[in-house]
Amino acid sequence: MIQFGIIGIGNIGLRHAQHIAQNPDTHLTAVCDMSDANLPQVRSLFPDVAFYTDYRQMLQHSGLNIVNVCTPNYLHASMTTDALKAGLHVVCEKPMALSVWECSQMIETARQTQKQLFVVKQNRYNPPVAVVKNLLSQGILNNIIQINVNCFWNRNADYYRLSGWRGSKIMDGGCLFTQCSHFIDILYYLAGEVQAVSGSIQNATHAGLCEFEDSGVFLLRTRAGALVSFNFSTSAYQKNMEGSITLLCQNGSVKIGGEYLNTIDYQCIDRYTIPNLPVGNTANDYGCYKGSMSNHDKVIQNVVDTLSGRATVATSGNEGRAVVQIIEDMYASVVQ
Ligand SMILES: NC(=O)c1ccc[n+]([C@@H]2O[C@H](COP(=O)([O-])OP(=O)(O)OC[C@H]3O[C@@H](n4cnc5c(N)ncnc54)[C@H](O)[C@@H]3O)[C@@H](O)[C@H]2O)c1
Repeated sequence: MIQFGIIGIGNIGLRHAQHIAQNPDTHLTAVCDMSDANLPQVRSLFPDVAFYTDYRQMLQHSGLNIVNVCTPNYLHASMTTDALKAGLHVVCEKPMALSVWECSQMIETARQTQKQLFVVKQNRYNPPVAVVKNLLSQGILNNIIQINVNCFWNRNADYYRLSGWRGSKIMDGGCLFTQCSHFIDILYYLAGEVQAVSGSIQNATHAGLCEFEDSGVFLLRTRAGALVSFNFSTSAYQKNMEGSITLLCQNGSVKIGGEYLNTIDYQCIDRYTIPNLPVGNTANDYGCYKGSMSNHDKVIQNVVDTLSGRATVATSGNEGRAVVQIIEDMYASVVQ
């Protein structure tokens, strides 16, 4: 039985607790948060869970094997390195950190301590993403010529008032880190390394709610030579509208779409038809907003399989850092 601890039992920390409860090989031993507001929900799943308000004390809890870092973005790096140094494996929520430098510190600490570092990129498990990855790996689609990514979501005032870190440049980092990192990860997963060419951002409807942009348009290029247009907004009217990635390839065109990369919206592929796919999980529903597909069960299973020697880490620190590198490059490419 793998003994987990969770730092941060907010929206996503609670999901981690639920999936740890559902997995027969995992147990939640300790949690840490500055607030005990969600403790009753955790205790309904794990009546004996130990509760800490100081994560450094929790890291010393006897019997812990692994810690899930589910705190605001700006805390991921320091909490991850402290947990690794305490001799624990770590599951770190996305984005891995707010700078490439921090990611490198995390990777180096994992190497020195010989502990596993899992970075959450659960959209890779979405059925349409998995099938398109497979078509690319098998050469069925052949070379990618052009890509379009759209993330048109809604984040309203209630969302930004939920927690103090949301919308803060220092604690949140920006929409590319918080809303778009899943889409950037899928772009990287499917197309490999990309270089940002130029971009433009603005805050159209969130003045006073967030210190950074709420929308942007970017031009990128993959190392293999494909053109990429990347559009995002958190100003879609009333609700999430679209989360999609369209690939024009030499032997086929395909659009992964829906609200959260959950459907195949278009396909025309040489001598191949993507069959009806399993529906997949629904989006994480947090009340005043919806997020990505809820695949954290697969993240927890990958931990079980890896620590039991049956698998390797599905998304490593190196891959988490590659996404943060693209985000840094995209912000650096902004033309005012
Ligand atoms: N993979 C996904 O689909 C997904 C979805 C949502 C959020 N996230 C990520 O998870 C992280 C948390 O997001 P959230 O929506 O759950 O935020 P949240 O505000 O709901 O929860 C964060 C929790 O961390 C706690 N916290 C803050 N500082 C702390 C500290 N020093 N010690 C202990 N606890 C502390 C807060 O009290 C809060 O309960 C973010 O990095 C976010 O990007 C990922």
